[in-house]
Amino acid sequence: MAGSPPSSRVALAGVAAGAAAAAVLGSAAFAVGPAGSATGPVLSSRLRGAAAPGVSGPAANEASSGSSSVAALSLGSVVVAVAVAGRKQRVGAKRAAKVARQQAASSSVATATLKDFSNSLPECPATIWKADNIDIDNLPPVTTTGPLIIDALELGDALQNNSNSNKDTELQWFKAQRSKIMAQLQDHGAILFRNFDTTQDATGFRAFYDSLELNPCLDPIHTSGLRKMEHKKDAVYEAVNKPSLAQHLVGLHNESTCVKTATYGAFVCFKPADEGGGEFLLADGAAIINDMDKDVLRRVYTDKIRISVSNLDLNFIGALPDEYKEKTASWFQDLILKTVAPKFDMDLEMIYGTDKSNPYRLQAIEHAQSPINTHPVTGQPVWFCNIHNHSRYLRDRRPCTVPEVGMTDVYKGDLSPIDYNDVAHINTVCERNIKRILMQKGDVILLDNYRVLHGRDVFKGERMHAVTWFESCGKDNVRAGETKAKTDDFMNSIINKTI
Ligand SMILES: [Fe+2]
Repeated sequence: MAGSPPSSRVALAGVAAGAAAAAVLGSAAFAVGPAGSATGPVLSSRLRGAAAPGVSGPAANEASSGSSSVAALSLGSVVVAVAVAGRKQRVGAKRAAKVARQQAASSSVATATLKDFSNSLPECPATIWKADNIDIDNLPPVTTTGPLIIDALELGDALQNNSNSNKDTELQWFKAQRSKIMAQLQDHGAILFRNFDTTQDATGFRAFYDSLELNPCLDPIHTSGLRKMEHKKDAVYEAVNKPSLAQHLVGLHNESTCVKTATYGAFVCFKPADEGGGEFLLADGAAIINDMDKDVLRRVYTDKIRISVSNLDLNFIGALPDEYKEKTASWFQDLILKTVAPKFDMDLEMIYGTDKSNPYRLQAIEHAQSPINTHPVTGQPVWFCNIHNHSRYLRDRRPCTVPEVGMTDVYKGDLSPIDYNDVAHINTVCERNIKRILMQKGDVILLDNYRVLHGRDVFKGERMHAVTWFESCGKDNVRAGETKAKTDDFMNSIINKTI
C-alpha cells in the first residue's frame, strides 16, 4: 500500500464473524481488570484488607467494622450505622430464622405476569455526554462512595413474616424500599445485596429487579456477541464465564461505547468459581478523578482519547504487486463498510496502520471522546474512560488471553500514543480505587453505570455469573417518541457458537 493509509468511517455492524468477534472481544463490555492477579510493575497497587466477607478495599474494611444492617460506606472512613450493634451475635439466629421460614411456605413469587423479553428488548440508550468545560482544578469532593452493603441477615424484623415465604417477603421489602434504595444507589454508586433468597436463580433475580421497577435494555454491544442471553425472557446475559477467558483479566470499564451507555446494571452470582478467583472489581469514577494527578488529568482531558477495538491484519496485501496494494486495501475497507449491519451501532472508523506495527493492520477505532464525563443526574464529574481495560500497554503486562484480532488499544484524540508514564499513573490510581468483591451465590451488585466502573479478576474452574442492563427506573419504560427495538441477536448467537 503506497501513500498514507486510507481510512473510512463506518457504523461497524457486523462484518465477518471474525471481525465481529474481535469487536466483541475488544469492546467496552469486555472490561478490564485489575489488580488481583495482575502481574507486572504497573499493577502492584491492589488494595487488600480484612473486611466483610468477600469484600476488600477501604469500603470493605469499613463494612467489617460496621454494626449496621445497611452499612453506608464513605471515603472518610465513616461508617453510617443504621441498625443496632451486636451484629455478629445475631447473624446465627437470623440465619436459623430464615431457614425456618424457607421451610414454612413455598415461594409464590409472582413471575407469571412478568413480561417476556425474548423477542423485544429496548436498545441500550444513547450516551449522555456532558463533558465540556469541566474545571479540573476545582473538582467537587467525593463524600460518599460504594459499595453500600445491604445484608438480609441484618435487616431484623423487616424480613420476619412467617405468613409468607422468604422470597415473597423479600420482594415486598424491595418494593417498599424502592425509592430509598434508588436514592442510596445515586449516593453510593453501587449496592451489594447479600444473603437474600430471592436472587439465587434467574427467575428470582428477575423478580428482584422487577420489584425495583428497573427496565432492562440490550447490552451496548449486544450484536458483537461477547455475551449470550442466558435467560432471554428475563433479559439476563451471561457474564464473562467462558473457560477460554478465565485467565483474562477484565479491567475497569463503564458498560458503554462512545454512542451507547446503559444507565444501571445488576450483576448476580449463581455460582462462584469453584476453584477460586473471579472477584468482581468496582471503582468509583468520581473518586478516581479526585485521586489523579491534576497535570495528567488535564493532559488526557485536553487531548481526549480514541479506543481501538479490533485488529484485522490483511498481510496478504503486502505480497501483491505495488500497483494493486492501495486499490486492494481500499476495496477491503469498502467491503467491510458494505457488510456492516446498521444494528451494530458503534460508529467506528476503519484505519490502516495506526499502531505502527503493520501497515496492513486495519483497526476499528472509536471517535475521539472525553475521558471525563459528568453524571447525568447529579452533575458530579466522573472518570468515564475504559483505558484501564483497553490499553495495550496495560494488557501486555497482565493476564490476557484475547487473540490479536480482539486486542484493543487507546490513543490520544489525534491517534498519537499516550505517554506511558501517564498510562502507568492512570493505572495506579484506578487500581488503588478498586474494591474487590468475591461474590457468593445469590449476591447482587446493583450499579450506577455512569458513576462507577467494573471489571473482574481471573478465575479457575467453572463459574456462572450473569448481568442485566437497564435503561431506566420507573413504571413507564417507554420513552416519548420511541418505539421498542426488536431484539435481534443473530450475530450474538453465531459468535457464541463459534468461540
Ligand atoms: Fe462489563
